Amino acid sequence: MVTLNKKIFKNKKVLITGNSGFIGSWLSLYLLNLQCKVYGISSGRFNKNNIFNLLNLKRKIKNYNINLTNEKQVKKFFKGKKFDIIFHLAAEPLVYDGFINPKKMILNNINSTLNVLDYFRENQKTVLINFTTDKVYKNEDKKNIRFKESDKLGGLDPYSFSKSAVDLMTTMWKSTYFNKKNIFKYCNLRSGNIIGGGDWNDKRIMVDIVKHHFLKRKIYIRQPNSYRPWIHVVEACLSMLLIAQGLIKNPYLSGDYNIGPNTGQEKNIKWIFQNSLKILKVKSKKINIKKNIKKFPEKSFLGLNNKKFIKKFNLNFNLSTFDRLKFTLDWYYVFFKNKKEIENFTYNQIKLIHKKLNFKVKKH
Ligand SMILES: NC(=O)c1ccc[n+]([C@@H]2O[C@H](COP(=O)([O-])OP(=O)(O)OC[C@H]3O[C@@H](n4cnc5c(N)ncnc54)[C@H](O)[C@@H]3O)[C@@H](O)[C@H]2O)c1
Repeated sequence: MVTLNKKIFKNKKVLITGNSGFIGSWLSLYLLNLQCKVYGISSGRFNKNNIFNLLNLKRKIKNYNINLTNEKQVKKFFKGKKFDIIFHLAAEPLVYDGFINPKKMILNNINSTLNVLDYFRENQKTVLINFTTDKVYKNEDKKNIRFKESDKLGGLDPYSFSKSAVDLMTTMWKSTYFNKKNIFKYCNLRSGNIIGGGDWNDKRIMVDIVKHHFLKRKIYIRQPNSYRPWIHVVEACLSMLLIAQGLIKNPYLSGDYNIGPNTGQEKNIKWIFQNSLKILKVKSKKINIKKNIKKFPEKSFLGLNNKKFIKKFNLNFNLSTFDRLKFTLDWYYVFFKNKKEIENFTYNQIKLIHKKLNFKVKKH
């Protein structure tokens, strides 16, 4: 049994950057349930249909609309506040957007992280979870290679580059401002592609399928033969929390970790598409395909070796990718049928996934 101990989290002061986004919203839900004092920073307007709004999280956490690239605003926010844990999720997260506007994305992702890291020069006891991606690795597109944490970094498109840079920057901070006596309690948590309810970002295959099916939008299938390591957002949240719990107890767990599905559960876009149609009971002839979309080079195989994470934290990622897909599409089905049911449904779905993952929250 994998466990989180409520006692460790209770009353901890926690900051999530990017709290209004897809993953940040699910993470907020968990932290509130663990009775943390939750603060959030995000920028721009919330999408009214994201989980953050649907579950009324806005009223339950201290929410700040701050652009993390603005040094002055960030310094003002941090003044007088000491956090036990910071989950840094804020970033422009879409590979496609990076191709269209590389400078904006690179500056956003790097400068946001620099301003967050600066907090740690004076606050050296805080735990940092830098949530990042499998795309940080130097990917020479060799099939069936699953990256290990010790492999070379070097993202070769603007998004991947920005995340590699941020990953290196965090490690550089450790070497520059911390030492063996004063250990930086941090991790670069490199995750595969995440699916689950409440994501509305276009140019992600699951979201495009959902919008095609429920909203009759045209769909464009980019890179049908590209394999990706898919996990469910619940697995991503549990991973972040397990490592935060680990670092509170033992700073020597600091470092880099991969999270992703077990070997063989990587699936290509075509598989995701066809199996989604199966779950939604749709005949493929009815698909309304969009043409004339700009094409950019993307890698054809991305796999992660998750053994280091499993060994230290026991979470086994033993859902099948079909299950992950089904949980995701079930969520959207309920959302489009009756939004009012989505809160209860989300809590029940979390319980169901916990059961499958053999996971429990310990109260004492
Ligand atoms: N979704 C995935 O498949 C996936 C996989 C691996 C890693 N990640 C990483 O997870 C994180 C969250 O991704 P998501 O899918 O939830 O994206 P999202 O677009 O739903 O959320 C991004 C959040 O970051 C905030 N943000 C961005 N720039 C900011 C800035 N300058 N100042 C303040 N807030 C800012 C946004 O307001 C939003 O709250 C990103 O760092 C992404 O790189 C995502």
